[in-house]
Amino acid sequence: MDQAANLRKLTEGTTNLKLVPNQARPMTKIIAIASGKGGVGKSTLSVNLAIAIAKAGHKVLIFDGDLGLANINVLLGIIPKYNLYHVVKGHKSLKDIIIQTQDGVDIIAGASGYSQLANLNDTQRNNLIKGFADLDNYDYMIIDTGAGISSNVIGLVMPADEVIVVTTPEPTAITDSYGLIKSIVSQTKDKNLKILVNRVRSAIEGKKVADRVIDISGQFLEVQVENLGFIFQDEEVEKSIREQKPYITNSPRSKAAACLTRITHTLLQTENTDSDTEGLAGFIKKFFSFVDYREKELEDRMNEDEDSPTDKG
Ligand SMILES: Nc1ncnc2c1ncn2[C@@H]1O[C@H](COP(=O)(O)OP(=O)(O)OP(=O)(O)O)[C@@H](O)[C@H]1O
Ligand SMILES: [Mg+2]
Repeated sequence: MDQAANLRKLTEGTTNLKLVPNQARPMTKIIAIASGKGGVGKSTLSVNLAIAIAKAGHKVLIFDGDLGLANINVLLGIIPKYNLYHVVKGHKSLKDIIIQTQDGVDIIAGASGYSQLANLNDTQRNNLIKGFADLDNYDYMIIDTGAGISSNVIGLVMPADEVIVVTTPEPTAITDSYGLIKSIVSQTKDKNLKILVNRVRSAIEGKKVADRVIDISGQFLEVQVENLGFIFQDEEVEKSIREQKPYITNSPRSKAAACLTRITHTLLQTENTDSDTEGLAGFIKKFFSFVDYREKELEDRMNEDEDSPTDKG
């Protein structure tokens, strides 16, 4: 629907132009999963949400953006032969390292050889840009990010069409999710931000925590965060992690799976329509522009500090 509209817009007025394959592609919707505090359930959510979206008939790619501690493959019980490191080094193309899983989603495994996508040289960056430009037609790319507000994380969040901020009811997780939203909002006010409360004991608790984040973000940052819903604290989730099988397929009748199904419906219904026309190559280019900009900003600030008088008395 929205993709068809985008395509029509692309082709309008170009009837005598031959479309190159890239332009004819429907856009890939990018969803970043982030959190302020670690261990709140981002990776588990990324995997299960990706599978749920695939079950709804879409082609889905998971990008393990938590580079230092890559573990999407672990949650799926897969040992990747190659990862992003091999692409960056130019030994493999991105297509070569993509793993097709039996759950119907493809994955780009994180690299355990290095931890910073942000520190690549130009050749290495180009290897990645080329790789993303060559990828098949994915309807969705889910990015699992690391916790916190590093350039690596915010850089992956910036090019996303939707950002899902995950928290638990713990006060520290709530505070840190506000910190993350603040960091994102300091860069841009027009991200689609959604809050998801994981490991709740009741629906009321889920609503209360989400409302809290939505209220403080509205009040202090003047940004509207949407409530994407909650997922129950559920032993089946822990069991499925131990068994390295996602709960959405391993325990489809669990409370957590019911919540996730509802969340997936909400997400697919409420998603925004304007996604990037540059596709996945655009995504990685934006990531690099952001980290460069961040670096320059830090440099400028350090220079300012050096120039400013330290003694006011
Ligand atoms: N709904 C749930 N019910 C019960 N346990 C859960 C639930 N969601 C997550 N967990 C538990 O939380 C642990 C951490 O989850 P996960 O690794 O997905 O978090 P993360 O946010 O990706 O962590 P990190 O910040 O380290 O990347 C899981 O191993 C699991 O035991
Ligand atoms: Mg994780």
